Amino acid sequence: MFDDRVLSGMRPTGALHLGHYNGVLENWLKLQHEYQCLFFVADWHALTTHYDSPEVIENNVWDMLIDWLAAGVDPSQATLFIQSKVPEHAELHLLMSMMTPLGWLERVPTYKDQQEKLSEKDLSTYGFLGYPLLQSADILIYRANLVPVGEDQVAHIEFTREIARRFNHIYGKEPGFEEKAERAVKQLGSKRAKLYRELKNRYQEQGDDSALDSARALLEEAANLSLGDRERLFGYLEGGGKMILSEPQALLTAASKMPGLDGQKMSKSYNNTISLREDATSIEKKIRTMPTDPARVRRTDPGDPDKCPVWQLHCIYSEENTKDWVQEGCKSAGIGCIECKQPLVESIGKTLAPIRERAQEYIDDPALVRNIIADGNDRARKLASETMRDVREAMGLDYS
Ligand code: TRP
Ligand code: SF4
Repeated sequence: MFDDRVLSGMRPTGALHLGHYNGVLENWLKLQHEYQCLFFVADWHALTTHYDSPEVIENNVWDMLIDWLAAGVDPSQATLFIQSKVPEHAELHLLMSMMTPLGWLERVPTYKDQQEKLSEKDLSTYGFLGYPLLQSADILIYRANLVPVGEDQVAHIEFTREIARRFNHIYGKEPGFEEKAERAVKQLGSKRAKLYRELKNRYQEQGDDSALDSARALLEEAANLSLGDRERLFGYLEGGGKMILSEPQALLTAASKMPGLDGQKMSKSYNNTISLREDATSIEKKIRTMPTDPARVRRTDPGDPDKCPVWQLHCIYSEENTKDWVQEGCKSAGIGCIECKQPLVESIGKTLAPIRERAQEYIDDPALVRNIIADGNDRARKLASETMRDVREAMGLDYS
């Protein structure tokens, strides 16, 4: 019964490659048909690590947006926008920073991990420590309940939930909250009121999450509640005050299975990628020069596909009969490696040709992308402003 809202962001780190397509983008393409989706470029998040080289960010922003659009992210289905064009994210980040315990941020595992991993950079900054809080603002400002992220980001979603809970707890208390909530329960009518109380007890006393879900569904269906009373009852369920910010859930994206050209995970830092806009000649060259089973030195030596990165690509791109042909031909030295690679040149070429062509249309007409994003920025700002109105009011900042 909930109006599910999906939000996800990507830092603008450069041209996207097949690894992004196979993991994140294919997931977005599916989600955009199933939910209200908001996808944004986290350019401020890029500044947390690139504060001393901001000049690369601008090009990356537009390149990434072109890659999204070319891959099939559809602006008539999903709202696409740029974080820094919705300055309300910064306002929420600032306001939430007032009540965020320092220890919570220091304990987020990515904080120390990334500092160690990127040790050539000085990341002992205020902005970098606040990275997860900015991410929380990104999510909470849209009251998004589903956030597709990879495994590495789950801790940030958990952190966001804790921030939302703390915020509601501190600022959701209005004078006479309990009495108002009790009066609202009666508004439900005796049958529903009884069920609401039972479910609330079951959740609060036994931590039964399914009772919480049922109670929320009950509130969604109750047509005779005012908006304020509904929010009070959502908050009352969890024992806190009025629910101003809602807790999101991580929607775990399966890790990309795309191997790189050398058999390691495909990643820009390993220099083993095929980019979404790679041209046909370059695709062919990259695949032809891929390493194969090191034991297969001569054409007459039999090989073992399990020791060959080319085989891993076949597992993703080839039909059963081609895979049988590879297995058979490799182990019996019936086929050569160049021959074995040819079907991949073709199928990867076929996947990327339409993406490359669509990207070219956007490159040729920059106004097209600018307009799509201007429109998305506006739509996002409208949603963000609604939440900010409630947040300012809850924090006593609605004086004029
Ligand atoms: N931190 C995310 C990443 O590195 C990017 C991001 C920023 C994000 N804000 C977000 C993802 C909000 C989901 C929701 O991948
Ligand atoms: Fe790899 Fe194919 Fe050569 Fe076998 S025939 S080693 S699977 S490239």
